[in-house]
Amino acid sequence: MLRIHVNDPLDKQATEKLKSIPNVEVTSQHYEKEELLKIIPEVDVLIVRSATKVTADIIEAGTRLKIIGRAGTGLDNIDVKAAEAKGIKVLNTPGANSISVAELTIGLMIACSRHIARGTIDLKNGKWTKKELEGHELYGRTVGIIGFGNIGREVAKRLLAFDMRVLAYDPFVKETDMPVQLVDLETIYRESDYITIHVPLTPETKNMINKETFAKMKDGVIIINAARGGIINEEDLYEALVSGKVYAAGLDVFEVEPPTDELRQKLLALPNVVATPHVGASTFEAQERVGMLLVERLIKEIEAL
Ligand code: MLT
Repeated sequence: MLRIHVNDPLDKQATEKLKSIPNVEVTSQHYEKEELLKIIPEVDVLIVRSATKVTADIIEAGTRLKIIGRAGTGLDNIDVKAAEAKGIKVLNTPGANSISVAELTIGLMIACSRHIARGTIDLKNGKWTKKELEGHELYGRTVGIIGFGNIGREVAKRLLAFDMRVLAYDPFVKETDMPVQLVDLETIYRESDYITIHVPLTPETKNMINKETFAKMKDGVIIINAARGGIINEEDLYEALVSGKVYAAGLDVFEVEPPTDELRQKLLALPNVVATPHVGASTFEAQERVGMLLVERLIKEIEAL
């Protein structure tokens, strides 16, 4: 009998499919670190989304652990090196939530350009701020996509429909059949009216958007981050938003989540910040796709054990 423990919410249909695997016992409950450390020695397969941080000590305590499954794309909440060193297989589901993240990205771009969040707040407070809320069209403007993987490409596809000039930077992508110009980072910074980030958080991308890179950007640039907190230096972003160097920022992710500390609170208080609580992949469609794909991958791995 294999014990599969689901520590973060998993789609209902995917959970049912998991339970139908022969000779498995499935438990679903969120444990915080101390509790998880206590139960992990009895777990063969651990399933997480983003709330659970699968750190080296959890992996070390998982004496029976064979597989860690991440219902999502990013693996930054799992110590993959520690897992691999113990021969534990790490599975994720790249691509399965790309459309949802891409759609949220477009939503943030439009919300930043047209002051949708501020207009809503003002109206709810009985204020008619029409004169203050003149915005920008996307049409004809230049967008720079940093990271041209599954999500970056879905974003490009949609922005081309807005008749934008689309630039993309990705060190791993040398050609594309889309009407997108692949350029270097300097060109993205210099020419973009909008910059949207779609790279994972790694030592190379941590703080890659900072005061030096803001200085290279156009005045009035709009920045979108629905990838990972920590890629943009949030102190430097705050300064750039206050000075007007950055016209607006659309943020779905933060270096600290939930963003309740002083720096994040002052950032969120700015009128030119539109923010959502890391909901890029939070659609019924994406969660079903991600959950089902993860379970299919798990079944193959379990059969091979
Ligand atoms: C991802 O890495 O795919 C997303 O952050 C998923 C999530 O919100 O759990």
